[in-house]
Amino acid sequence: MQQNFPLFQSHLDLAHGFWRRLLNSGDMAIDATCGNGNDTLVLAEILSEKGGGEVIGIDIQEGAIQATRELLQTQLSPAMLDKVHLFHQSHSDFPQMAKTAQVKLVVYNLGYLPRGNKELTTLTGTTLQSVQSALELILPGGAVSITCYPGHAEGAKEEMALHEMFSNLPSALWNVCIHSFPNRKKAPSLILIQRNQTLL
Ligand SMILES: C[S@@+](CC[C@H](N)C(=O)[O-])C[C@H]1O[C@@H](n2cnc3c(N)ncnc32)[C@H](O)[C@@H]1O
Repeated sequence: MQQNFPLFQSHLDLAHGFWRRLLNSGDMAIDATCGNGNDTLVLAEILSEKGGGEVIGIDIQEGAIQATRELLQTQLSPAMLDKVHLFHQSHSDFPQMAKTAQVKLVVYNLGYLPRGNKELTTLTGTTLQSVQSALELILPGGAVSITCYPGHAEGAKEEMALHEMFSNLPSALWNVCIHSFPNRKKAPSLILIQRNQTLL
């Protein structure tokens, strides 16, 4: 995307910049779709640079958890590695550890793994269920970041359902921002939802 549109950042660069501005020392972040671990690594690196914090990574595929673990082992210090907790399960229900924590950021990179099995994609029903739980976990000032891929049928359905869900969130409590390329229907989009610090 950056080659064709040099004036624009990619959705991933935008997401990573937002995470960097949001996260502070001691925060907890959740990667609800680990995949190959690239986003889990970015979260862990940001927290490490800021002085520490904890990361929970979740994926429904055992191979994804394994790939994430291997990537983190080659890139993180042993101290930071100890602060990343990986769970092989669906994000439709968060691990107990997340439910009792003060969560600052939950990230989703929806869809299926590039070059992986396209059948193992995120699904609208479980994504909505998970995002609803994420909104309940988030601290005041915290956020949910979701990258959508409307270029495939389930991804388009997911994006539409999420837009519907977020357009109904009370504005006194939530700020919702959607970054998309309206003249490129299949391009990924980024949804950022931030919980207000205080109720207005
Ligand atoms: C686009 S990939 C994520 C890419 C990843 N963030 C990275 O940096 O490599 C989407 C991932 O979501 C996972 N997934 C699909 N349904 C899931 C579910 N219900 N719970 C948790 N993970 C799921 C897939 O297994 C896949 O690894």
